[in-house]
Amino acid sequence: MLTGGAGYIGSHVLRSLQDSGRQVVVFDDLSTGIAARVPDGVPLVQGSLADRALVEQTLRDHTVTGVVHLAAKKAVGESVERPLWYYRENVDGILALLEAMGNAGVGCMVYSSSAAVYGEPPVSPVPEDAPTAPINPYGETKLIGEWATRDAAAVSGMSWISLRYFNVAGAANAVLADTSVANLIPIVLRNVRNDQPAIVFGDDYPTPDGTCLRDYIHVVDLADAHAAAADLVEAGPTAEVVNIGTGQGSSVLEVIDSVGRALGRDLPYGVVARRAGDPPELVAAADRAHTVLGWQARHTLDDMTESAARAAGL
Ligand code: UFG
Repeated sequence: MLTGGAGYIGSHVLRSLQDSGRQVVVFDDLSTGIAARVPDGVPLVQGSLADRALVEQTLRDHTVTGVVHLAAKKAVGESVERPLWYYRENVDGILALLEAMGNAGVGCMVYSSSAAVYGEPPVSPVPEDAPTAPINPYGETKLIGEWATRDAAAVSGMSWISLRYFNVAGAANAVLADTSVANLIPIVLRNVRNDQPAIVFGDDYPTPDGTCLRDYIHVVDLADAHAAAADLVEAGPTAEVVNIGTGQGSSVLEVIDSVGRALGRDLPYGVVARRAGDPPELVAAADRAHTVLGWQARHTLDDMTESAARAAGL
């Protein structure tokens, strides 16, 4: 079962799981997911994870053997404004899911976590054993999800892996595009469409060009990491935490340049004050994913901006 399978990331993960030969049932409340992203022939159960009976019934009805859990709220700013809603959606959600999995005897879990669990890491690239110190409710709820999974598994024997995503971007095609306009690349593309300059949140960071460094990972690569993770948890008892990034940082200005290359012109931009809560640098140590999953990113930043621009119809 894939929770959140009608979302931007979830719908890409769905394709990778199918390509690996798996049968998938999607569980999604369609609050941000789009039913048209779920291919014909894939069962879509529309419901909330808070509906414990429905979650358990779905696991039983479809004789589910493993869960890939992506359904969650994921906007950092929104989580600061509505923390309790984030706790309810993300924490209640995974607790209900883990209980239902326990009741139905489902023994495998791939959990969608986030680099947000590191907060402002003291080292870069950041390895998985760096201290977790989230600086917003979103990151806190993702970390609680890791703890709940680990603790439930210690009792039930469930095999699990937590994937800490870095900055996800790009699209396989227009149907699966990120429609949320919540992150840098979709925002830059929206501004292009509206004939407005890109906005840079601060150019006085201690980085080479003064703008923040992030580790951008193509959503198609990220999706493939889930199929590799599913293989691992199914192969035997697993308790793992793995970064999903490229190991390379790109600055905000480099991203804007890359979008410009995708569109064939230089993009204007303006610099404004720093955005609260942005760490200067968040880049994955990516070697563990390679060792544990046999997976590594294949796509470049230009692949991400190019595919995002095409998916946005630009
Ligand atoms: N930025 C700008 N201008 C914009 C938008 C963003 O300069 O118009 C900057 C931000 O300040 C930041 C960088 O671009 O330095 C990336 O910002 P995003 O909002 O795209 O992404 P974040 O790094 O803040 O967070 C993202 C996800 C989180 C996840 C995190 C993990 O949104 O869910 O990556 O690295 F936890």
